Amino acid sequence: MSKHLTDISSLGDADIDHLLKRAAEIADGAPARLEGAVVANLFYEPSTRTRVAFERAAQRVGAEVINITAQSASVTKGESLADTARTLHALGVNVVVLRHPENGAPLELARALPDGMCLVNAGDGTRAHPTQALLDALTLIRAGVDLQQARIAVIGDIARSRVARSSIELFGRLRAAEIRIAGPAAWLPGDDDMPGVKRCRDFEQAAADADVIMMLRIQRERVTGGQQGPDAADYHARWGLTPARLAPAAPGCRVMHPGPMNRGVEIASEVADGPRALIWQQVANGLPVRMAVFEWLLRQAPPRG
Ligand code: NCD
Repeated sequence: MSKHLTDISSLGDADIDHLLKRAAEIADGAPARLEGAVVANLFYEPSTRTRVAFERAAQRVGAEVINITAQSASVTKGESLADTARTLHALGVNVVVLRHPENGAPLELARALPDGMCLVNAGDGTRAHPTQALLDALTLIRAGVDLQQARIAVIGDIARSRVARSSIELFGRLRAAEIRIAGPAAWLPGDDDMPGVKRCRDFEQAAADADVIMMLRIQRERVTGGQQGPDAADYHARWGLTPARLAPAAPGCRVMHPGPMNRGVEIASEVADGPRALIWQQVANGLPVRMAVFEWLLRQAPPRG
């Protein structure tokens, strides 16, 4: 049976513990080499940091790496995702990294993969982005944030954010003290979605005494129906993170953003470039996390707990 990383819920507690510890070791310089790994990055949505991080991570563990985008792939000729994967398998690829606009595409593909081929979800629709969650957790741990004491506020376009969904799930699994969400009412998830999360009425309530504030990009490309919401200036006035909005947070509150950032919309440049921000650490930690994931997929890992 091949291993896959499709979402945080597919990981046992021991897997999470292993991946975060191993990624930290790699970040501290521990060697990580894999024999015979051939990775195909299959990106059916635009991406800079995630795609480059997967590519660099594959190179760093000594894998051969192939990059395929929707425009360049036979998907434009009507080939199914499963047949694309079988084609790659026949050519010796043993890890597929998939970014896809449709929710559940990696789950479906994982079921169709030939034995010996592993899959990593690099973000599907609004559903899941597990390696982003792992790098977010690693970033907080390495910044000295004690997750079990941390009040974490996630603010913005929550309902359409696969980052929010996966990171909130992982912070919960790591027993964060409190997770709060806030954003325009139409952009909050349904009541049954994200159990255990505190819904705040406005930015101020979410930010009060927060140890971590995570901002999100508005997912305009995923807007359907009449949910267009406020324009950029109105959004910034009500939901943007500015130096003044950071004042009621806990002293030393850390600021996160998965990128790409829209400066002056969800976050002011003074904050993004300020001393509280962990934004570039998040990007950098994407490398050891993906190296640890490749190693975990292709090597015998500890039993699931
Ligand atoms: C995010 C994504 O693509 O899900 N970016 C990322 O992977 N770091 C967030 C976004 O697009 O807003």
